[in-house]
Amino acid sequence: MTDFSNKTVYQIYPKSFRDTNGDGFGDIPGVIEKLDYLRELGVDYLWLTPVFISPQRDNGYDVADYRKINPMFGTMEDLEELIRQSEERGMGIMLDMVFNHTSTQHEWFQRALAGEEKYQNYYIFREGDPDRAPTNWESKFGGPAWEYVPALKKWYLRLYDVTQADLNWDNPEVRGELKDILCFWKKKGVKGFRFDVINLVSKPEKMEDDYEGDGRRFYSDGPHIHEYLKELVRDAGIEEYVTVGEMSSTSLENCIRYSAPAEKELSMCFNFHHLKVDYKDGDKWGLMEADYKKLKELFVEWQEGMQRGGGWNALFWCNHDQPRIVSRLGNEGTYWKESAKMLAGMIHLMRGTPYIYQGEEIGMLNAHYPSIEQYRDVESLNYYQILLERGETEEEALATLAARSRDNSRTPMQWNSGKYGGFSETDPWLPMSAAFREEITVEAQEKDEDSVLAFYRKLIAMRKKYPVIAEGDICFPETGADMVFAYRRTLGEKEITVFCNLSGEKQAVKAAGAGRRKRILLENYEGREGSLEEEICVLLPYEFVAFGNVED
Ligand code: NOJ
Repeated sequence: MTDFSNKTVYQIYPKSFRDTNGDGFGDIPGVIEKLDYLRELGVDYLWLTPVFISPQRDNGYDVADYRKINPMFGTMEDLEELIRQSEERGMGIMLDMVFNHTSTQHEWFQRALAGEEKYQNYYIFREGDPDRAPTNWESKFGGPAWEYVPALKKWYLRLYDVTQADLNWDNPEVRGELKDILCFWKKKGVKGFRFDVINLVSKPEKMEDDYEGDGRRFYSDGPHIHEYLKELVRDAGIEEYVTVGEMSSTSLENCIRYSAPAEKELSMCFNFHHLKVDYKDGDKWGLMEADYKKLKELFVEWQEGMQRGGGWNALFWCNHDQPRIVSRLGNEGTYWKESAKMLAGMIHLMRGTPYIYQGEEIGMLNAHYPSIEQYRDVESLNYYQILLERGETEEEALATLAARSRDNSRTPMQWNSGKYGGFSETDPWLPMSAAFREEITVEAQEKDEDSVLAFYRKLIAMRKKYPVIAEGDICFPETGADMVFAYRRTLGEKEITVFCNLSGEKQAVKAAGAGRRKRILLENYEGREGSLEEEICVLLPYEFVAFGNVED
């Protein structure tokens, strides 16, 4: 398996990246237009969220044809051109494979509905009482996880939207079809794949009610998952490609197996535990202050655990499903720039492969929409109703969406300070973030050596320059400060230490002369109060500093 330790991946949500034909939707030619910008940033791979034929009920995660490009994004020729032009600039394209489910518009599902048994076996259909679903499992988007089809007198499983029917991976024909799709895209020259909620694909043989939760414990990291992944990767011949699995409610033990090279499953895994530290009682729709102690513990557990077990992490804060990290854990006002840089540095120098989600590199903020009319996401719209039914007022429900909606990250990319941020000439499909300001645009930041963008460029370059960042071991020195996250990377004689102040207050850190005879490699403040060479040093609000002996 190939080593991706010095690479950085950039995630593009094409619908919101750049609209070149003036229809309000971003498109593939828009990605091509920005390739020089991405090369300058220094990233190695571009992961495109799904651009296939889809009714867009879940913005492309409801695929109706895995081999065709949705005309809203362009043509197959456009994608081929993108692959070619990216390659010319030293970047590879990764496509997003949504293999847990298809759209109910997919031909397979349509044929299943028409009564063809072969295709009914492609999905998870169960006979049963029309008034009682086969199990009490809940959909991740709210409501029951099963849908009844009166004409067939059968239920089908759908862990997400009613139009996203779960595939039956226990059927070897289904696995064969999915392998063929990967081979199709390999031939087109793509260099890697992101696999959507891949750890949910192996469902238990016996489906039973869940009296403790929503059913996820029965199908997350399910019974045959490792076997199926090995088979898919081997049969599609993608062992040397960059592959990342999105793992929902997974475990460290399983992620080690998914990503340890000897297992020949995937190159790396996304897990989401660190992004649940502000969920009240584990509920995404319950608001609470982030638990920073828990956040630190989770990073320590996963970094040390993956290192011990030989697994590999995908490092990330943001994606198209998560609120913007500066709005979430940083500071949108006085320390906007400092906190954006600190959060970037914290992630990028750890052990793993970093991912940047479009707009993160300029410190974009949440949407701050004042009314429900501005939201588009199916999950947000469903949950708005559910929250009202649970007794929240409209104001409260809107406050919850403002913090948790997936639309927070899907607002159009802010290229310049034009009316639509240089994303489009026309009203975009989703309104601009209400927090859009000139300072948070690519155009403004490209002119500024001290910008968040410049900081990201440095972090990406550092990973390539210093093998200790790519390959080194990680450990976590004690600092005595609850709101400071610190780690040390070491490779032979070389070492880099990182301090991150997670708070808006100054923090005294027991450093025991940490910086003595070490050079500062990157920091987000010009001057420091006191010195890293002292026994105790004081970090400023959201201060980030990385220092070491790599340049001796
Ligand atoms: C995870 C994707 O990231 C999300 O956007 C999607 O809604 C679900 N999987 C279902 O495909």
